[in-house]
Amino acid sequence: MADGWRWDATLFEGAAAHYERGRLPYAPGYAETLAAALGLDHRSRVLDVGCGPGTVTLDLAPLAGETIGLDPDSGMLAEARRRAGRRKVPGVRWVLGRAEDLPGDLGGGFQAVVFAQSFHWTDRDRVAATVLRMLAPGGAFVQVGDVKSAPPAVYAEIGDLVRRHLGPVRRAGQGALVNGTPGREDLVLARAGFGPVERIVVPAGEVVERTPDDLVAWTFSRSGSAPHLFGDRLAGFEHDLRALLGQGPFPERLPATEIRLWHSAQHTYTYAHTEEADDAE
Ligand SMILES: C[S@@+](CC[C@H](N)C(=O)[O-])C[C@H]1O[C@@H](n2cnc3c(N)ncnc32)[C@H](O)[C@@H]1O
Repeated sequence: MADGWRWDATLFEGAAAHYERGRLPYAPGYAETLAAALGLDHRSRVLDVGCGPGTVTLDLAPLAGETIGLDPDSGMLAEARRRAGRRKVPGVRWVLGRAEDLPGDLGGGFQAVVFAQSFHWTDRDRVAATVLRMLAPGGAFVQVGDVKSAPPAVYAEIGDLVRRHLGPVRRAGQGALVNGTPGREDLVLARAGFGPVERIVVPAGEVVERTPDDLVAWTFSRSGSAPHLFGDRLAGFEHDLRALLGQGPFPERLPATEIRLWHSAQHTYTYAHTEEADDAE
């Protein structure tokens, strides 16, 4: 957990509706690359923790057996269900909850427990220790994220505008992140008993032309500028944001995707899996 910051349920409040439009997709083929690296097949159990609107869950579901998406934000799960319907990906189980609630009734035997841009929001030592016990032999703790590259200049201008409206310190739920979110998950996972990391980079995709609407959605999809933070000044902020963006378009290359895998360093006690998959939350 970030220094001096406490998690609360408003962290991504109102962000879900903006997520799909605002966020850039992971690199083409990243899910197939991940599935091949893990040897996933129709018998594999996969859990996507902090699944948001089902971004990775829905890409992995056709490549695995039982797939579960877990997130504490009910708006994100509603969006995930809608997208599953639209993309005709049946049979995913969506669970409302935090990583800290695991294993809950999910049991063990997972080939992959995935955190795509979500592990930094959790009580990492506690969650890593739990995940280790939820993995099947040969299973892996997986992190998925964007490879950082210099962002187009407009993002710095949006950041300046957000700070003018919300203050200089990055907001997160009802609190603020004085030192940002924590890194060095390699140390956390080593402490928990995982082995060395295996890193795979899936190359970047094409250049896309982003519209002002896309960048407004990007802004509201982020915890640090989620709609709830602006209160009754939301319309004023959006007015200033659109004035800043003008007509666009904003060309941007889809980022490369980084996949990091950690297998358990030694044999550990694992949770038994006895539950049948269902659609309950
Ligand atoms: C940046 S979004 C990533 C969504 C998705 N995984 C993706 O890659 O597009 C982070 C997600 O983590 C979820 N999250 C925040 N704190 C969490 C926690 N303690 N346990 C599980 N998920 C959490 C948020 O609700 C949000 O949906």
